[in-house]
Amino acid sequence: MSDKAIENVLHENRTFEPQAAYQQYTNTSLEEYQQKYRQSIEDPEAFWNEVAQNLHWFDPYQQVLNWQEPFAEWFVGGTTNLAYNALERNLSDKADKKAIIWEGEDGEVRTYTYADLTREVKRFANVLLDLGVQTGDRVTLYLPMIPEAAFAMLACARIGAVHSVVFGGFSSGALADRINDAGSKVLITADGGYRRGSAVPLKRNADDAVQNTPSLEKVLVVKRTGQDVQMQEGRDVWLHDALQNVSDENEAVALDAQHPHFILYTSGSTGKPKGVLHALGGYMVNTYLTTKTVFDLHEDDIYWCTADVGWITGHSYIVYGPLLAGATVLMYEGAPNQPDWGRFWKIIQDHKVTILYTAPTAIRSFMRAGSEFPNSYDLSSLRLLGSVGEPINPEAWIWYYTVIGKEKCPVIDTWWQTETGSIMITTLPGAHTMKPGSAGVPMYGVDVAIVDADGQELGADEGGFLVIRKPWPSMLRTVYGDDNRYKTQYWGEIPHVYFAGDGARRDKDGYFTIVGRIDDVLNVSGHRLGTMEVESALVSHPAVAEAAVVGRPDPIKGEGIVAFVTLQTGAEATEQELKAHVAKEIGAIARPDMIRFAEALPKTRSGKIMRRLLRQIASGQEIKGDTSTLEDVSVIEKLQQSVQQS
Ligand code: WT7
Repeated sequence: MSDKAIENVLHENRTFEPQAAYQQYTNTSLEEYQQKYRQSIEDPEAFWNEVAQNLHWFDPYQQVLNWQEPFAEWFVGGTTNLAYNALERNLSDKADKKAIIWEGEDGEVRTYTYADLTREVKRFANVLLDLGVQTGDRVTLYLPMIPEAAFAMLACARIGAVHSVVFGGFSSGALADRINDAGSKVLITADGGYRRGSAVPLKRNADDAVQNTPSLEKVLVVKRTGQDVQMQEGRDVWLHDALQNVSDENEAVALDAQHPHFILYTSGSTGKPKGVLHALGGYMVNTYLTTKTVFDLHEDDIYWCTADVGWITGHSYIVYGPLLAGATVLMYEGAPNQPDWGRFWKIIQDHKVTILYTAPTAIRSFMRAGSEFPNSYDLSSLRLLGSVGEPINPEAWIWYYTVIGKEKCPVIDTWWQTETGSIMITTLPGAHTMKPGSAGVPMYGVDVAIVDADGQELGADEGGFLVIRKPWPSMLRTVYGDDNRYKTQYWGEIPHVYFAGDGARRDKDGYFTIVGRIDDVLNVSGHRLGTMEVESALVSHPAVAEAAVVGRPDPIKGEGIVAFVTLQTGAEATEQELKAHVAKEIGAIARPDMIRFAEALPKTRSGKIMRRLLRQIASGQEIKGDTSTLEDVSVIEKLQQSVQQS
């Protein structure tokens, strides 16, 4: 094996055939997937042209793809409007169908039909126009998970303003940086938002942020909590006041298919946040197709994606994809453990949710809290379960499949990124065999390969870098204001392919397993090991709830393995026992040198473990670099103490 590759050490052999009942139900059979996938790779332009014809174009496009590596134009010459496609296009047969069912953390429920949503978005768009927002202007959103977040995004899309949604959990400093990078003219925020029973002071954070944002002219404020806020005369406007004067009529603007649709900031492993830019036409077509296909949408589905609109998952699979596809979307404002760990299951029972799409970090928290919570609710409405955001450990997969899905719901593990815009690798429910821990096969039009550092394709079960060899419609078009960063970071690492930054391997059946970010790979005595494999071995021990594994310099082995572990509530295990367990599961090579028990692991607000910080802790270094995305800073101190004591 090449020393540039990543070793394949985790032996997870359980597989699950699609359930017979589900096979009867699915919209896509295995044969159909195979035939369409082949067509999409052999003749991508014909394939995407056919998909795009399901959507409305004001002016037809003349060319499906213009590819000047690394810059793509999709549906060249066409004009369209995403809000029009999500709203007016669905009115003919879905005007009275529920578009959004929203539940607040406090239990309040609001429901909007497609007709209601269309009216709300038109009115919101008129407010933006009154504030002076023009096509092409940037608008920053800093909002809780309330329906107005979706209205605001669609209103921007309707008039061709470029939104940049900043997660409501970010600090004022992070917000200011993002407003400035985008040069936003308007900020849309709320007085506050509910999170874990208390009101987060969004407007107050926003006030601090806009001290140093020269481009900003207006702040539009949604009333959510009713908490006290300062309104600055001439700059700040209440949404409910602005809505009083606007008409219900608004015409969607015909926008060029290359029009910038939105910017979404994602943290690079170092340095300043990257503004990932998505363009209208390609993003629209790709999210529409993947939502319909991957979630296997049926007319009566109640679809719930638990992400926040501040992440790409919220953009593509709460707002844009599902509404383009005419689905009923459930939106929940608050935390999963409010008032207790039964909240998600109660929501599923109350609203008869059929599709649940959530993240491994949430699934592991639910496992840790105990099966008695889901077991006390009626989850029989569920038919499909999805996972996204990081590799899902086989143990968590099995728990999700059995305890939540009662072995009747397929589980899909969807791999994609902020940059890819839509799902790239998954299995299709009812069509594919499921392999816990492995994301699955490429979606239509996605040409994935595993290569070494020179771009040489590797064979079955050889670990390497995940790349995409052909452009796809929802690919990022650039890093906002920094074409060079886009070029070098994504198309410069390995010649002529898109470099995703993930380590992965493909098995003999063509299934891709993601082993983690390249930056996190361990190098132990010359063996490159994915962090996910060692972590999954730890999590397969019955006492372990969650594990994060990092390397620290070792004079002999190059890198030694340090594991940070949280235990299941009430469970016990010794360091020796867990080390032996990993050695048994994977082999002596992966035996951790040190295991530290912790109450919590450092995570970003989107639930990703910050291994960069753990590496610094493990090697006794000072904590350097950006910690602004950390969810709970006190976790760091506790971990540092636990390592120093050893
Ligand atoms: C990174 C992208 C995709 C929306 C949410 C995260 C990791 C994502 C999976 C998965 C293994 C996954 C990758 C990827 N990731 N989904 N199913 N299996 N890893 O978007 O913040 O842009 O992060 O998340 O490392 O590169 P993001």
